[in-house]
Amino acid sequence: MSMTKTKEKKQGAQIIDGKALAAKLRTAIARHVEVLIGDHKVLPGLAVVLVGEDPASVVYVSNKKKAAAAAGIRSFEYNLPQNTSQDELLKLVQTLNREKNVHGILVQLPLPKQIDENTVLKTIDPAKDVDGLHIENIGRLMSGLPGLVPCTPLGCIALIKSVEKNLTGLHAVVVGRSSLVGKPVAQLLLRENCTVTICHSRTPQISSITRQADILVVAVGKEKMVKGDWVKPGAIVIDVGINRTAAGGLVGDVDFDEVSKVAGYITPVPGGAGPMTIACLLGNTVVAACRQNELTVPHIG
Ligand code: GUN
Repeated sequence: MSMTKTKEKKQGAQIIDGKALAAKLRTAIARHVEVLIGDHKVLPGLAVVLVGEDPASVVYVSNKKKAAAAAGIRSFEYNLPQNTSQDELLKLVQTLNREKNVHGILVQLPLPKQIDENTVLKTIDPAKDVDGLHIENIGRLMSGLPGLVPCTPLGCIALIKSVEKNLTGLHAVVVGRSSLVGKPVAQLLLRENCTVTICHSRTPQISSITRQADILVVAVGKEKMVKGDWVKPGAIVIDVGINRTAAGGLVGDVDFDEVSKVAGYITPVPGGAGPMTIACLLGNTVVAACRQNELTVPHIG
C-alpha cells in the first residue's frame, strides 16, 4: 500500500459535499430554465402549499421558495391555517391542477390530523406531482416507466453516483421503509442494478445486515442510530436523517464521528441529502414544465 493510501485510511471517510453538488445542479437547472423562457416562452412555475406552522416545515418551504427564485422558477406560495379542512385543501389542489402557469405542485408534509395525506396526494395531477408521491408515479417508478420520482431519493442517488459511477452488483442496504424515502430509494438502487435489502424497526439484528452494505442509506429519524461497528469499512454512507438535538443543533441518523472513521464516503448533516432534495425538486419542476409543453425533457445533472 502506498503512503498516500495509508494516510487516506487514517483520515477516515471522504465527505460527500451535498451543498456543493446541489449548487452545481441548481446552476445546470437555471441554464435549462433560461432556455425554456428564451426559446419556448415557458416560465416553469412551482406551487408550494403549507398547512399550519410546523417550524421545520416553515423552514423547508422558505428554502424551497428561495431556491426556486434563484433558479429563475416562479413560485406560488399558499399558507393555509392549521384548522383548514380537507375539502378546502382539495379545492385548492384542484384549482392548481387547472392553472396553466403552475407546472409543479408540492403539498408540504406532514399535514394536520383532520386531513388525510393519501387523499390529498392522489388529488394532485400526476403530471404536476413534483414530489413523486401520487400512486400513479409510485407505480411508474416500480414498473420502470417514466414519471416523476421523489426528490430525496433522487438526491441520494446523485450523491452516491458522485463518488461511484457504476453501482451494478453492489449491495445496497436501506434502513427505513417510508413512502417518502426508504421505499422509493430502494427502487432507484434496484434500477441501478444493486442488490437491495430494506431494513426497518422490526428487523432483528439490523447491524449484522448494515455491515454487509457497500452502500448504506439511512432514513429513520433516530438520532445517531447507526454506529461505527454497523458499517463495512470503505462503504458509501448516505444519512437522510435530520434530528434536532436538545441543544438546538442538527444531527443525522448516523453517528458521524464514529462512522466517518470506518466508511469510505459519508454525507454530513446538515449539508448532505438536504440541499440535494431541494435541487431535485427544481429539476422535477423543469421536467414537468417540459412534458406539459411537449418539449424534450433535458437530462439534468
Ligand atoms: N416533508 C418532509 N420532506 C418532504 C418532502 O420531500 N416533500 C413534502 N411534500 N413534504 C416533506
